[in-house]
Amino acid sequence: MTDQVIIFDTTLRDGEQALAASLTVKEKLQIALSLERLGVDVMELGFPISSPGDFESVQTIAKQLTTSIPCALSRALEKDIDAAGQALKVAERFRIHTFISTSTIHVESKLRRGFDDVLAMGVKAIQHAKKYTDDVEFSCEDAGRTPIDNLCRMVEAAIDAGATTVNIPDTVGYTLPSEFGGIIATLFNRVPNIDKAVISVHCHDDLGLSVANSIAAVQHGARQIECTINGIGERAGNCSLEEVAMILDTRKDITGLHTNIRPTEIHRTSQLVSQLCNMPIQPNKAIVGGNAFSHSSGIHQDGVLKAKNTYEIITPESIGLTQNNLNLTSRSGRHVIKHRMEELGYDENSYDLDELYADFLKLADKKGQVFDYDLEALVFFNNIHEES
Ligand code: KIV
Ligand code: ZN
Repeated sequence: MTDQVIIFDTTLRDGEQALAASLTVKEKLQIALSLERLGVDVMELGFPISSPGDFESVQTIAKQLTTSIPCALSRALEKDIDAAGQALKVAERFRIHTFISTSTIHVESKLRRGFDDVLAMGVKAIQHAKKYTDDVEFSCEDAGRTPIDNLCRMVEAAIDAGATTVNIPDTVGYTLPSEFGGIIATLFNRVPNIDKAVISVHCHDDLGLSVANSIAAVQHGARQIECTINGIGERAGNCSLEEVAMILDTRKDITGLHTNIRPTEIHRTSQLVSQLCNMPIQPNKAIVGGNAFSHSSGIHQDGVLKAKNTYEIITPESIGLTQNNLNLTSRSGRHVIKHRMEELGYDENSYDLDELYADFLKLADKKGQVFDYDLEALVFFNNIHEES
């Protein structure tokens, strides 16, 4: 079994659906390009059947991605799958994600069917999605509360029908890490064709256990984690991408696992998502909170002055947090913008400084402070404009 954990980001689907105000297509594209630079393997861009706006943004972003695999969500219904396939077909390769509930409470109270019916609907949906792409993911919604015999049957049937990834969501964030890890272990022991698909997990944070549950799952054989930046998402949110990435990076001595995430891109991506989604990050949030690298107690301050690793298990630089005390405002000169672009890794021939500076001043007049991601967006949208 591979030691790489696939990072499936759902900031633009499960994360975005929980926001008070939806993001514009341009804002979603900005986040998607930042996620691609961060190194996410698969990106869930939306739920195309849900609205014409969602369809359009999935299509627009799918066209722009070059390394991350674009994906879209659909219920186990032909019309949903067709909408996802139509929106994604602009990309060279893509994934369709289809799902149906499998827990008794969902099957009886929400779907009002029998479990065998639901199993047949799941199989039919996978077969239909296969007409668009080989890369089909199937989710057993509320798997965390699904009777284990039913879950084993559904996973086996999904793989037989052609699902290449089978996702086990803890939809309501109910399970404990030992319990969730046990569910994954049981699937590996009991489902005969399990090695023909990647087993994925998708944990919600209702009891604050989404990250712990996801880590327990990969320690029992799951190889894809579904997560969002800053843990944004339904109710208490989803598993936080930056936390799982840094856990796997910092404790590979224990897990023996790794991801494709570039940790130095974490801070900027987290800031971008927080600003555009209008979701402030709690100061004591692990990895990306404002206090994550601050030391208050005298004993701790004395310790870090003597040796940083007395109280710091990861460095601020490792997540891309650099000392930058030049605030970019309408008073900032052209040379400051040029200098900042150099620091951000832009070659001076890759953008037009006059054009950027003129746009920068307009934005600074509107916003006050201009951030790094604003500069990058100005360059990106100017370059796209020139190409088209
Ligand atoms: O939480 C959940 O179960 C979901 C599914 C659609 C994967 O978001
Ligand atoms: Zn979810």
